Amino acid sequence: MKPTTRLLISVIILTAFSAGLAAEARVVLTPKPGPAPRINGAMIFGVRPGSPFLYTIAATGERPLTFAAEGLPDGLALDSATGRITGILADRGEYAVTLKATNALGAAERSFRIVCGDRLALTPHMGWNSWYVWENRVTDRIMREAADAMVASGMIDHGYQYVNIDDCWAVRPESDDPGLRGEPRDERGMINANRRFPDMKGLTDYIHAKGLKAGIYTSPGPQTCAGYTGSYGREELDVRRFVEWGFDFLKYDWCSYGRIAKDEKNVEELQKPYRLVSAILARQPRDIVLNLCQYGMGKVWEWGREVGGHSWRTAGDLGHDVVGNLFRDGFDVYADNGLDGFGGPGGWNDPDYLLVGILSSAFVSDAEGGNEASPLSPNEQYTHVSLWALLAAPLIFSGDITRLDDFTLGLLTNDEIIDVDQDPLGRPGRRAAKDGNIEVWVRELQDGSKAVGLFNRGPGLAEVVADWAAIGVEGPQKARDLWRQQDLGVYEGVFKAYVARHGVVMIRLWPSGR
Ligand code: GLA
Repeated sequence: MKPTTRLLISVIILTAFSAGLAAEARVVLTPKPGPAPRINGAMIFGVRPGSPFLYTIAATGERPLTFAAEGLPDGLALDSATGRITGILADRGEYAVTLKATNALGAAERSFRIVCGDRLALTPHMGWNSWYVWENRVTDRIMREAADAMVASGMIDHGYQYVNIDDCWAVRPESDDPGLRGEPRDERGMINANRRFPDMKGLTDYIHAKGLKAGIYTSPGPQTCAGYTGSYGREELDVRRFVEWGFDFLKYDWCSYGRIAKDEKNVEELQKPYRLVSAILARQPRDIVLNLCQYGMGKVWEWGREVGGHSWRTAGDLGHDVVGNLFRDGFDVYADNGLDGFGGPGGWNDPDYLLVGILSSAFVSDAEGGNEASPLSPNEQYTHVSLWALLAAPLIFSGDITRLDDFTLGLLTNDEIIDVDQDPLGRPGRRAAKDGNIEVWVRELQDGSKAVGLFNRGPGLAEVVADWAAIGVEGPQKARDLWRQQDLGVYEGVFKAYVARHGVVMIRLWPSGR
């Protein structure tokens, strides 16, 4: 081939790449977990006195593993074969526990603090939600299969806990589908599930028996967003029902409450339904994490915690335009409003679910009924998960958990990325520098290190420079590539990397002590 032809071909390839026309390879960066034990997930856990306690130690390593927990307070017991800690704590207090996991190849330890008091959600929630793959097609069987898949895929071993039903489990009186119609409430006024959920208690028992937790959804208005029975006027009864059924998590949406709260500019009106439901939740003999879903109205981050939320959606639905919203709601809404000042232990900013893997076609192509690959490119998917970890956002996957390929599983189960998200200091990251499409984000971590994301929002390959002054570090720093889980060496003054279109390089920096 003539040199001019070769040059022409490489120019065409480069142009195609920079225009985003060539398909990016789905490169799996996350190494497979090793055979020796490693304990993962949260290092701090909140519970209220008198509430049933359930925490499953997340650990990778060849099975069988034997678990131990030193310093477990009275009232709690560990099942050494499953790693499940259960029981009830009578007294408030903080308990320093050392978790251990052992197999034929070695042993791992991790400190774990149990804080018994009023606060829950001391680290961002991790789990799965049905909405973006099943929408109004969700059923009891789908939820049970999701719980099975959380265990079989190994996601449970990386700290994922919640299996959450979104909208569409209640009755929809006007529906054309007989499976969804019926009496919205029983003779006592208690809310009914539709025929696709014949036994809610049986469902939560099934989820709990796997060491997982169960979540449910409702709206403070007369109807949910998809037109199913809502909780307006029956809040106390509905919470009692959720407690009887055994749920551990409640997503409280807004839809149709607009008919009640006429002035959506009035912050007190915006707060009212959430104050009401959280006061009811606080009286229950069961811990239920409360997720506010009102799309950021009235700067919810300023008061979400005060009205009893353990997390609050900061913007509209990511799924309406996943690629555009990833940048707008993920990066800009957060940075422009200084949201790092509001999230923290007990209350987290929630920029919506992780939309990776296979999603409902309604969010991909406007076709109904089927499921298709997320419209995010591979690099955008790395950007999505990296940013969520830097923001200390809940890691709630909402793609098809029963169809995880190595790429998607790698995105969801990188323990060093999850350690950033779940860092016990609970201080969310911030945008440290922006130059056009180039952004550097930094998050301070409990051990004195910093997680740094080098992002390229632009259309072609670009160099991104993380400058020590901008990210607030001094002196030589030991750098580690978190996705690849590889040490990179010691750097002085700056860390630079070439970053692909819409991609990220995510590192952690420790003072090198030189
Ligand atoms: C709203 C929420 C979504 C989902 C749907 C269900 O749009 O923001 O997350 O719960 O309602 O109808």
